[in-house]
Amino acid sequence: MTSTNDIRRSFLDYFEREGHAKVPSAPLVPHNDPTLMFVNAGMVPFKNVFTGLEHRDYSTATSSQKCVRAGGKHNDLDNVGYTARHHTFFEMLGNFSFGDYFKDRAIELAWGLVTKEWGIDPKRLLVTVFHEDDQAADLWKKIAGLPEDRIIRIASSDNFWTMGDDGPCGPCSEIFYDHGDHIPGGPPGSPDEDGDRFIEIWNLVFMQYVQAGGKIVGDLPKQSIDTGMGLERIAALLQGKHDNYDIDTFVALIDESAALTGTSTGGENKASHRVIADHLRASGFLVADGVLPANEGRGYVLRRIMRRAMRHAHLLGAKEPLMHRLVPSLVSEMGGAYPDLIRAQPLIEATLLQEETRFRRTLATGLKLLEEATIELGAGDTLAGETAFKLYDTYGFPYDLTEDALRSQSIAVDRAGFDAAMAEQKAAARAAWKGSGAKASDDIWFDIADEVGSTEFTGYSATESDGQVVALIKDGQRVERAGPGDEIVILTNQTPFYGESGGQMGDAGIVSDDKGLRAIVSDTSKPLGRLHAHQATVESGDIAVGDTVHLAIDVARRDAIRANHSATHLLHAALRSTLGPHVSQKGSLVAPDRLRFDFSHPSALTAEEIAAIEADVNAQIRHNEAVTTRLMTPDDAIAAGAMALFGEKYGDEVRVLSMGKAVDKHFSVELCGGTHVTALGDIAIFKIVSESAVSSGVRRIEALTGEGARQWLVGRDEKLREAASVLKSSPDEVPARIVSLVEERKRLERELADAKKALALGGGGGAPAAGPEQVAGVNFLGQVLDGLDPKALRGAIDDAKQRVGSGIVALVAVNDGRASVAVGVTDDLIATHSAVDLVKAAVEALGGKGGGGRPDMAQGGGPDGDKGAEALAAVKGALEAAKEAA
Ligand code: SER
Repeated sequence: MTSTNDIRRSFLDYFEREGHAKVPSAPLVPHNDPTLMFVNAGMVPFKNVFTGLEHRDYSTATSSQKCVRAGGKHNDLDNVGYTARHHTFFEMLGNFSFGDYFKDRAIELAWGLVTKEWGIDPKRLLVTVFHEDDQAADLWKKIAGLPEDRIIRIASSDNFWTMGDDGPCGPCSEIFYDHGDHIPGGPPGSPDEDGDRFIEIWNLVFMQYVQAGGKIVGDLPKQSIDTGMGLERIAALLQGKHDNYDIDTFVALIDESAALTGTSTGGENKASHRVIADHLRASGFLVADGVLPANEGRGYVLRRIMRRAMRHAHLLGAKEPLMHRLVPSLVSEMGGAYPDLIRAQPLIEATLLQEETRFRRTLATGLKLLEEATIELGAGDTLAGETAFKLYDTYGFPYDLTEDALRSQSIAVDRAGFDAAMAEQKAAARAAWKGSGAKASDDIWFDIADEVGSTEFTGYSATESDGQVVALIKDGQRVERAGPGDEIVILTNQTPFYGESGGQMGDAGIVSDDKGLRAIVSDTSKPLGRLHAHQATVESGDIAVGDTVHLAIDVARRDAIRANHSATHLLHAALRSTLGPHVSQKGSLVAPDRLRFDFSHPSALTAEEIAAIEADVNAQIRHNEAVTTRLMTPDDAIAAGAMALFGEKYGDEVRVLSMGKAVDKHFSVELCGGTHVTALGDIAIFKIVSESAVSSGVRRIEALTGEGARQWLVGRDEKLREAASVLKSSPDEVPARIVSLVEERKRLERELADAKKALALGGGGGAPAAGPEQVAGVNFLGQVLDGLDPKALRGAIDDAKQRVGSGIVALVAVNDGRASVAVGVTDDLIATHSAVDLVKAAVEALGGKGGGGRPDMAQGGGPDGDKGAEALAAVKGALEAAKEAA
């Protein structure tokens, strides 16, 4: 038997030999189409190549593309498990021509592969063509030699392939295989065509038109080819099976599911095993492509798929979580063709285990409730919408899981009632919203969120993606369009722009389209915690609700934010390991140019502590460990050692960021919705630039990383060099030079003071001082000294008193226009003269007030520095007056 892996390989090899470039599968999340939930056909990644918007360095290609049809327009979820050919995940083999060959070569290549390479009996093949496409019909006759009765003209849209309402399209031609008359069913176009006898195996699309809004609006630049062949179908045919679930890949997965649950694969278990095998593939590939279970958007489609499988595991009697134990089989079947699956194996296992553990907590109770609610119901009845809503809201049952659970009893679910209950709950949440205080603007956000749902954030893995404009706001009002110069808020169904939250600033960047729109986004906020609001100024072109736009964040700015955010986590962990577990986060700011972290700690950090923290963080950066993200319940996250972030509201699920290495564990584990580096080495350097107090018991650290830190260090280095050059030394010698300069200065100050004193008292240098004069019968020595330090006056008075032996001394020191004065009286005269009285006279002459001290020595001062001589005269006058009075 030819294995599915061999069939895939032989398809790709055949087209490679025929000159086609082998192109790896694109990720399941489409990068070029915001209206698509998942890639659902092989041509999706080439959409813009067909329309000429994008050029590749090949004009023919072949691929095996991962596809998911669940959620969005193409949704096969409900049927999976109960039919032979429905899948949520499948592979589409295809060959493509972008303006190279057209119908004839496409038919020739297809016929050659099917009948020659794979040896399928041509007699069992028939084809359909679009009813107006005579050219294709003729080519089938000519190239394949098919008789007229096996070329069936189909008038309906079945043979005109479109991507949806917009995009490249064209008539198509399908190849069918006749499984034989033992199976009921008629050929395509016949009344019995829905039977299972004639199975479509290959669709050749002759791409030549462009559609917009469901109408053909023009021709493609070049006629092209897009073909699609479901690998599972062709594998069934080539392995002699009629049912896709009987091919080797599914048999391996189903056998493993049977072995692990100890159940048989047939009978009433058949559907459950098929659901499990199919959903395991979808879940594994979606997680590998970056989708994680969530309550909205793509993540919710994944959750629905996972939980549907998990209910079937429960039906099979699995006592423990099952899905994650099937991942090794999935990887061994498909990891060879899709190496990303091998890389993501641990994440797939952890995500499935987490989801199943969590869901099992409510599954049994929910099923019991469902059983009670349906006890009175029989085939053809309908379950009340409120019950389905209660199962959804309280027990985590996605709507389609409830439908699936009632399927075997032929009981339907009241969808309208479910939707009404959901709307009621939303209205209650809105009424209870405390909000930002700005009622009017909150109303706008609620209206938008009710209408279009939350914005899907694509920015954990992408820096640019397309989005569809769902609302525009100008001057606080919703508008339909905006043009050049308008300052607006743009809301799209999905965006890579992070909305400010958790301390991390919002992204900036550009919103554009291929019709000339260019809007500059300066910031992104996150109203209601679930809409991403781009604050933008339209530079050129127009933007309207419904448009598809390209959203590209400023990558350098975001990279700087990432580095600062991851460094904040490392800083938090380093603070706790250096200062102790009492450290807890009190706030943070993660900006592109810096980070700020407030934390509880009673005292200022010492230089040694700061150095140790910096060293710890930088050691983690150098180890360059990968940063990992897991989804967990808040309780599980805390149990796993996560430090909770300040000020965040937690939902049912949290992202848990683990980074760095400590003994036996991660250096840091935190709950965080922010964006981070992939590996710690991306932070490059970490430098604390300030440590200060915010309030009592709360300290603040500001730090830089990467280029910011480098520039800061360079700046410091330049200052040091400048200092060295002024000091005429090398940077290394600067501290020693400064110490010696400070000492020298102290010595010089001392010497200067001594010199001034000496000068004051005797002309300095030992020159004889002017002798005392006789005033009112006593020796009087008076002098005005410019620049004498007032602090030196007292010493100078003592010296002068010694020199006169017996008498009165008065010294005026003048500095910066102000005068200080001191008067001394030798001990033998204090009975008759008071220094305090005498100094008062001098102070008055200097324009001052008061003055005081003891009888032998008193001091004072005044603002009139030029009145020194008058002050001395006033002292003499006071002596005279005192003598006369005596
Ligand atoms: N686009 C076509 C399909 O999906 C052929 O690849 O069927």
